[in-house]
Amino acid sequence: MRKKIIITGGASGLGLEIAKTALDRGYEVGIIDTDEAAVKLAEDQNKSLRGYVANIAKENEVKNAFDQLGTPNTVINNAGIVRFGPLIEQSVEDFISTVNVNLIGTYIVSREAALRMEGQEGHIINISSINSITPGPGAGAYPSTKAGIKQMTRQLAIELSGKNIRVNSVAPGFIDAGMSAPIYEDEKVRKARSGAVPLKRLGTGKDIAEAIMFLDSEQGSYVNGHEFVVDGGVVHSLLNQLPRD
Ligand SMILES: NC(=O)c1ccc[n+]([C@@H]2O[C@H](COP(=O)([O-])OP(=O)(O)OC[C@H]3O[C@@H](n4cnc5c(N)ncnc54)[C@H](O)[C@@H]3O)[C@@H](O)[C@H]2O)c1
Repeated sequence: MRKKIIITGGASGLGLEIAKTALDRGYEVGIIDTDEAAVKLAEDQNKSLRGYVANIAKENEVKNAFDQLGTPNTVINNAGIVRFGPLIEQSVEDFISTVNVNLIGTYIVSREAALRMEGQEGHIINISSINSITPGPGAGAYPSTKAGIKQMTRQLAIELSGKNIRVNSVAPGFIDAGMSAPIYEDEKVRKARSGAVPLKRLGTGKDIAEAIMFLDSEQGSYVNGHEFVVDGGVVHSLLNQLPRD
């Protein structure tokens, strides 16, 4: 039987790459995204993909999306936003909107998915970030939300494992796609950041999609409550940046 996957924020960036990879692997794919034009384009370019325009931070919209797309075997909580700038220069509205989408939206979708998955095997994968582990310059409220996603993943994993539903997160590092693509248009930043990665390259959307496919496969089926860091080794490379003879 074909597995069904629903990907939030699946109309662009990493989400679209995950959707295309899942289609290639034979999944039935649904995406939920606020960007109507991007959803239409994704549907036009990927014939069997089904899209639904909804805001993950709104409970009723999420319920409607699941009603339309059906109960999935796997949900990827990928939709996320960032408001760049130092925390103390940000408005409370900036902080709230980031929390609303990244943390509360992930919660609303996870709860809806878990309730509908009851009685079948299920898997929820939340896209966090290496900012769940380390803060970053100018990252505003984003690291706080990503650390929250990591802990919510663990909480849900212990709550849902008795229902045969696994919950994991994937933490991308320096990825040359989506919300970070504009950062890497600056050649100096690109060189500095790729040079800082032990594997000496930026990551791609495909790197993240393949990690997700592994977690969701039979081979990954004993992984639960785990954050899978996909970053070429950068987040734990502090001492590598300070070599000694
Ligand atoms: N690109 C990176 O370098 C990187 C690194 C680490 C983590 N991430 C995480 O990966 C995920 C995807 O990021 P991306 O880089 O592809 O970003 P992106 O901005 O390219 O794509 C995000 C998608 O989510 C949708 N979206 C935003 N708010 C929404 C909402 N309220 N409801 C439904 N859809 C909504 C957008 O319309 C967009 O299609 C995010 O959670 C992000 O935090 C990205």
